[in-house]
Amino acid sequence: MAANFKLFKKKDNKKTDGQNFSLSDKSKFAIVEAYKAARTNIMFSLSAKEKKCFAVTSYSKGEGKSTVSANLAISFSKMEKKVLLIDCDLRRPNIHNIFKLDNKNGLTNVIGKMVDIDEAIKHDVLPNLDILSAGTIAPNPSELMCSTRFYELYEQFIRDYDYVIFDTAPIGVVADALLLKDMIAGFVVVVRERSTTHGDLQHLLDSVKLADSTVLGMLEVGCTYDSKRRKKGYYYYQYY
Ligand SMILES: Nc1ncnc2c1ncn2[C@@H]1O[C@H](COP(=O)(O)OP(=O)(O)OP(=O)(O)O)[C@@H](O)[C@H]1O
Ligand SMILES: [Mg+2]
Repeated sequence: MAANFKLFKKKDNKKTDGQNFSLSDKSKFAIVEAYKAARTNIMFSLSAKEKKCFAVTSYSKGEGKSTVSANLAISFSKMEKKVLLIDCDLRRPNIHNIFKLDNKNGLTNVIGKMVDIDEAIKHDVLPNLDILSAGTIAPNPSELMCSTRFYELYEQFIRDYDYVIFDTAPIGVVADALLLKDMIAGFVVVVRERSTTHGDLQHLLDSVKLADSTVLGMLEVGCTYDSKRRKKGYYYYQYY
């Protein structure tokens, strides 16, 4: 069963560049609650499939995948569960920027056996949240993600963590995200208001289906709302 989640941002005319969309103690109640609702739905999907991992993706670049991955990781870590967030966008990595970490040693370096996994993982970035950044940009990201070494690491991740979240590259640009299909319960798809088109979404759904994987739910970001609709219960998520 797929779930459909909505995230809302108050209507404003400000540019998004430079704004911080990471969850913190100062985040709006509605946004924190929307992530909690998404978390609950994802947890149900994971337990039904007996998996610990899911990936966040979207069709195009810049739709909010890394921000959503980061916020879901923060939200999951608040449940006193051990969470690992992995930046699997090996072409345009961003998770290290969001958490203000260095990206000297990351996933590519571990797969390439240049560094040990324990050295590469940033432990306790927040309570219960560890992060593995993407690492040095490699010329062959798809090959690295198909490697036996990556599968060995995956086995270790699911032994050591309660939840593993993969940030990925946009499916409409490269197929890297689909290479994770055997590790994950499915994809959480980010849809951006006034950016993602129906055509984009259809292409994404077709690609995921063709790869024999699943969409766990969709998360809409950058939405506007007005207070009247809010009072009428416009904040909701739904199963379909
Ligand atoms: N809820 C939101 N509302 C408006 N802008 C947002 C929201 N979430 C993220 N952004 C902004 O959108 C831009 C892209 O965000 P992000 O890096 O998370 O996207 P992405 O899909 O991971 O991009 P890429 O495809 O390059 O990896 C950033 O400038 C970010 O600040
Ligand atoms: Mg990104």
